[in-house]
Amino acid sequence: MKDNLFKLYESDLLRQTTGDTLRPGGFSLTDLGVKSCGFSSGARVLDVGCGNGATVERLVSLYDLQAIGVDPSEGLLESGKMKNPDLNLVLGRGEDLPFPDDHMDGVFAECALSVMFELDKVIQEIFRVLKPGGLLVINDVYARNPDGLKPLQELNLDSCLRRALPKEQLINQLVEQGFNIVSWSDHTNLLTQLTVNLIMTHGSMTEFWLKSSSCSVDPILAQAAIKQAKMGYFQLIAKRI
Ligand SMILES: C[S@@+](CC[C@H](N)C(=O)[O-])C[C@H]1O[C@@H](n2cnc3c(N)ncnc32)[C@H](O)[C@@H]1O
Repeated sequence: MKDNLFKLYESDLLRQTTGDTLRPGGFSLTDLGVKSCGFSSGARVLDVGCGNGATVERLVSLYDLQAIGVDPSEGLLESGKMKNPDLNLVLGRGEDLPFPDDHMDGVFAECALSVMFELDKVIQEIFRVLKPGGLLVINDVYARNPDGLKPLQELNLDSCLRRALPKEQLINQLVEQGFNIVSWSDHTNLLTQLTVNLIMTHGSMTEFWLKSSSCSVDPILAQAAIKQAKMGYFQLIAKRI
């Protein structure tokens, strides 16, 4: 079942609009996260679900952080390495992070937790690899109407939209694992802007979904499901106690 899913983030469709980052807002929330956390130069930071490593590259080149990315997609890692062979990108999964305990000053997860199947395990792993006092920055989609999530979850589509979490559920999971919530901010405008950009690139959202329809996603159903869940976008910062 998992392997039959169409992985929107591995197709070129999204990238034609978003460029190297595969998320709403490009680097805007990455930059906001770095500034809010106040990471000092040389801090060790992990990007979970790093895709082609665009954020890792930025964290190194602009903020002088020791950044490393982990992702299970060999294709995305390879394309990142081809662009910049110096990038520290590692094959792996959020559910089983290949790093020692108490190792990282910060962890980023950008449009990534919502594509992972075992969220509790991933949060546990992030907690484990963070140093006490280390900071987690999550930029992701959320369902502003959790009751409307069911049709979206039934789509044969592996994108961050499908497993968008309700805000309260995510916060509870983090707190249960031992995180303190430092801040939550809504950035749904970035998702709206991405939708506008997708329409400009592909003509309409129907056209966009039709192009991705090797995945057998019905464009009408997809759009209706997204609307029903009232999709939003957020940044959350949490601290490991
Ligand atoms: C929507 S893309 C976002 C990529 C990147 N963070 C960005 O914003 O450009 C989701 C990423 O999560 C990765 N991913 C999927 N399952 C994962 C897992 N179990 N652990 C870590 N990363 C995963 C995918 O390969 C993909 O690169």
